[in-house]
Amino acid sequence: MEDADRLRDEVLGEISRAETPDALEAIRVAALGRRGRLTELMRGLGALAPEARREAGAALNAVKDVIAAALAEAGDRLGRAARAAQLAGERADVTLPVQTGETGRIHPISQTVDEIVAIFGEMGFVVAEGPHIEEDFYNFTALNIPPEHPARQEHDTFYLPERPDGSRLVLRTHTSPVQIRTMLAQTPPIRIIVPGRTFRADHDATHSPMFHQVEGLVIDRTTHMGHLKGCLIEFCRAFFDVEDLPVRFRPSYFPFTEPSAEVDIGCSRKGGELKIGAGGDWLEILGSGMVHPQVLRNCGIDPAEYQGFAFGMGIERVAMLKYGIPDLRTFYDSDLRWLRYYGFLPLDIPSPVRGALAGSMAGGAA
Ligand code: PHE
Repeated sequence: MEDADRLRDEVLGEISRAETPDALEAIRVAALGRRGRLTELMRGLGALAPEARREAGAALNAVKDVIAAALAEAGDRLGRAARAAQLAGERADVTLPVQTGETGRIHPISQTVDEIVAIFGEMGFVVAEGPHIEEDFYNFTALNIPPEHPARQEHDTFYLPERPDGSRLVLRTHTSPVQIRTMLAQTPPIRIIVPGRTFRADHDATHSPMFHQVEGLVIDRTTHMGHLKGCLIEFCRAFFDVEDLPVRFRPSYFPFTEPSAEVDIGCSRKGGELKIGAGGDWLEILGSGMVHPQVLRNCGIDPAEYQGFAFGMGIERVAMLKYGIPDLRTFYDSDLRWLRYYGFLPLDIPSPVRGALAGSMAGGAA
């Protein structure tokens, strides 16, 4: 088996000198490939007598194993070297001063939340927050959505696994549970705005399993439907920066408000182009209503003494309308080119787009 030993030594030498994965592959083909030197030797075994064939075959197989192991080991070595070279080439010194020209951007969701908070802040609302993982009680029951209510199905709820007592936590399906948490924790007057994440098992061009809402809640002794209307008309006009924006209140139903209204803003779709403002068409942008007396009672507030209104709005939806963003899913792609295009410069301080806001609109709740 002179041939086999010589072959082994030669191939191992070549492997140890290989500098690239391509060179290594050429060595493998030359030794173990269909026309390879070792393959040819194995083919020659057929001409030997049975006893000699067995011996030579075992020797050749041993050589093959040694070569295969050396190839694998060299492959690892070259892979590590390539990775190290790549890392060295991409090395970045994070302690260097910021490069001018490469500026970060504020995500449109953050910008829109800041704008909404600024507008309602001018009207005397304060920001409140609540947990993403919520008790069934706050997300549904206290909001007048009992266990068998169809709204529970419509919400496409993400449930967590059952707990030992049989109850299940949920990923909140709306920001409305923060109404309940706030009313239980504070005494009126209450005037809060609640931006935050919400979750529903729904995914297409206009729905994402995680999205954002902003909730509003006003509770006081004399709050009435006129305050709801004035406050939301004022908000819509300020947010979309259209002074005479038509705003329409359409009767609707929510278990936690009575009466309930969906709010539409005017738009035009002439020539296939959507334009916010007077134009004969309508776009739904939020849900609202007077807080249901049962919801007040569930929170220990006497409906004979206090009333209020609430509203909920999808943040992605109004951001898409205001900034002409066509596809909801792009919000979460973390695509830097998208962010450079749709994002905002950090020093653009969000403010109510119009100077004088009619603070009197929600004034009854003060
Ligand atoms: N929570 C409702 C939704 O997610 C919106 C809403 C909030 C409606 C407050 C009325 C009052 O659809």
